[in-house]
Amino acid sequence: MRNVLVTGGAGFIGSALVRGLLEQPDVRRVMVVDDFSTGHEDNLREVADRVEIHRGDIRNYATLERLFDGVHVVFHEAAIASVPKSIEDPRLCHEVNVDGTFNVLQAAVDQKVRRVVFAASAAAYGNAPELPKREDMLPDPRSPYAVHKLAGEMYLRTFWESYGLETVALRYFNVFGPRQDPKSPYSGVLSIFADRLLAGKAPTIHGDGEQSRDFIFVENIVQANLLAARSEKAPGRLYNCGCGGRVTLNQVWDAMQRVAGVNLPASHGPDRPGDVRHSQADISLARRDLGFEPSIGFEQGMQRTLDWLRASK
Ligand code: UD1
Repeated sequence: MRNVLVTGGAGFIGSALVRGLLEQPDVRRVMVVDDFSTGHEDNLREVADRVEIHRGDIRNYATLERLFDGVHVVFHEAAIASVPKSIEDPRLCHEVNVDGTFNVLQAAVDQKVRRVVFAASAAAYGNAPELPKREDMLPDPRSPYAVHKLAGEMYLRTFWESYGLETVALRYFNVFGPRQDPKSPYSGVLSIFADRLLAGKAPTIHGDGEQSRDFIFVENIVQANLLAARSEKAPGRLYNCGCGGRVTLNQVWDAMQRVAGVNLPASHGPDRPGDVRHSQADISLARRDLGFEPSIGFEQGMQRTLDWLRASK
């Protein structure tokens, strides 16, 4: 993996991946393409002199074709990563998430990129109650966003089968960590709660708080990407990327209060429409093929996130 490019590299997950790639001895050149719609230059500030940062839109094929020249591995993280936004503006999200992914794959074939690793989503599983989620379960997309990510997975497999482009899709579960924006209406719950905590305020839990998620710290996601880029077994395949456990929202807030040494009981509001009750990944496939082992647990990840937030205030 000498020359690598991260689409969406100025975003929350993309910028963590860029940092991980810079530490790899076999990586010589790290490039980023980002339109800075939700990504921030600040996310790359202290590594900016070691990264080639290009402002560009994945809807523009010519931009990708030019940038992919000489690239060995592309990590495709760019997307409008929001379920509600995809319901409000399905056309825009389709253009970025589906047409953009198609452009990435086409440019990768045209420029003889060896491998593309794609940020897919657990949204593909929808509301099916069976737990934990296995990759061979029938998908049940319930939002335009879920359809976009699923379409991306299918395009990846087809480009592997039809053109020999090595593709790997990673279905991310609930990712959290430093640089996740707490201020957007589409923010992940962990970043919202952490922000409230540091402001000395209690959060609002939607519903009874007994809904659960498989939260995964962003550095574990970086590890999964690095393994997916190197594994000989991975091309053409799809892997869950969670921790394999689940934590309820009540437990999340209890743990945060404990770590911060405060007592701020959360208030409870109505259920959020369309919410999935429980989500948990079966990660045995990623363990077997990639050697994936999430090394940073929930509490440790949360501690690091809070430390980072405090330091950045
Ligand atoms: C997450 C992803 C979504 C993905 C889906 C796949 C994020 C931001 N979203 O959605 O992209 O498609 O997994 O399953 O990572 N909550 C509160 N109070 C708040 C905010 C949220 O109680 O202030 C609750 C929500 O109602 C929900 C839970 O926290 O029950 C998690 O919410 P959220 O972080 O938005 O993630 P998902 O809905 O799981």
